[in-house]
Amino acid sequence: MNNHVFQDRNGNTPLDPEQIKGLKFSHFTTMAELDEAEDINIQEGLAWLERQNAGDFLSSNFLNKLHKKLFGNVWNWAGTFRKINVNLSKVEWYNVAPDLINFFEDAKLWTANSKLDADEMSAEFHHRLVSIHPYPNGNGRTSRIMTEYMQKRCGLKVSSWMASLKNSPKVRRDKYIHALKMADKADYRALINFMREKC
Ligand SMILES: Nc1ncnc2c1ncn2[C@@H]1O[C@H](COP(=O)(O)OP(=O)(O)OP(=O)(O)O)[C@@H](O)[C@H]1O
Ligand SMILES: [Mg+2]
Repeated sequence: MNNHVFQDRNGNTPLDPEQIKGLKFSHFTTMAELDEAEDINIQEGLAWLERQNAGDFLSSNFLNKLHKKLFGNVWNWAGTFRKINVNLSKVEWYNVAPDLINFFEDAKLWTANSKLDADEMSAEFHHRLVSIHPYPNGNGRTSRIMTEYMQKRCGLKVSSWMASLKNSPKVRRDKYIHALKMADKADYRALINFMREKC
């Protein structure tokens, strides 16, 4: 998947032939059309998520279901793990499933431990999930939404970052990516601050 095309939010950016392959709307030719369809789908997915108030959510099954609800009207591979290696993740594609099992086991312990700092735990939760990068696309959005949902379910203060991040000024996006890169080096301070900011 050609990520630089996805990260260019100029509406006239043509879709990459590789992207068109999994697209359910065969007549789409530009990023603007794709962005709009994804946004509508995400709103529907969020409405579904709003209704999920009980049951185990720290699992690959739940994450796959969430990804499918967020992107399943647009992409036919939604809710299924990537089958290739990607630049944004050190995790080999065949380690996505086992790494997620480990991640959710750890997350269950973290969320049950009231002694952990909630902001630090949320930042680690987000960084680890997005670093596994389970899907061909939509990892940033799914991981931000999943992090907010985890906070909500655990009665923590919810980071108000997801909704406005995609269309926010470039400076805010750069700050987010910079914070993730710091977290790659086990320094979570920038990400914690970023997640605390009001958008
Ligand atoms: N150095 C990094 N370390 C960890 N994660 C990263 C790094 N750089 C980028 N990312 C994550 O990867 C995401 C991009 O991956 P992907 O395109 O699958 O997600 P997306 O939801 O389509 O992205 P977007 O945030 O643009 O909506 C970024 O949003 C960010 O969360
Ligand atoms: Mg993307």
